[in-house]
Amino acid sequence: MSNYDVPFGVGVDFETGVMDNPDRVITRRASDMRGYYANPEALEALIASGDPIHYMVYEKAIPERQGHLLFCMSVLQPGRVGNEYFLTKGHYHTEVDTAETYLCVGGRGYLLMKTEDGQWAAEKMEKGRMVYAPPLWAHRSINTGSEPLISFCVYPAHAGHNYGDIQTQGFPRRIMQGEPEPRLVK
Ligand code: F6R
Ligand code: ZN
Repeated sequence: MSNYDVPFGVGVDFETGVMDNPDRVITRRASDMRGYYANPEALEALIASGDPIHYMVYEKAIPERQGHLLFCMSVLQPGRVGNEYFLTKGHYHTEVDTAETYLCVGGRGYLLMKTEDGQWAAEKMEKGRMVYAPPLWAHRSINTGSEPLISFCVYPAHAGHNYGDIQTQGFPRRIMQGEPEPRLVK
């Protein structure tokens, strides 16, 4: 029995994405993102110029077992590494048969998704838009706007995260600066 086997509520600020009294706060800075961008020199320059925060995730310590739902607030800062917009690492769920829902509450960008057999999709994220990542689809957020991209995410608590495959293989598309719309490049 944990604190989270009884009902509870928690406040969330949709303007900032900050959750009240989170049990876990994950902070990823530029230096945590080596290997993820097309232009490693631009990433090193960013690290040398102050190593800014890329994104933060706020979570409650819901028990990671079947039946529970994990939820979090994800706040991805605006910015670019060279011409490539800031992104989250992205992952498959370890339990591949688990989906995830993202509700965007601020900012603008994409949820980029892919499967192991080569399918991919880029769903637009903007305030009030919900995006569904079905079972088997790896997912990564990308901020193409000038404000933080703020999402509320919910997924089965036993899902687990598999970053290794993305770290080695990446995604079939990158999202680069472009006018009037961002460019999706191979
Ligand atoms: C959880 C989930 C999100 C991400 C968050 C950070 O399954 O998809 O909460 O964890 O947006 O991205 P990653 O985990 O890829 O660094
Ligand atoms: Zn996920």
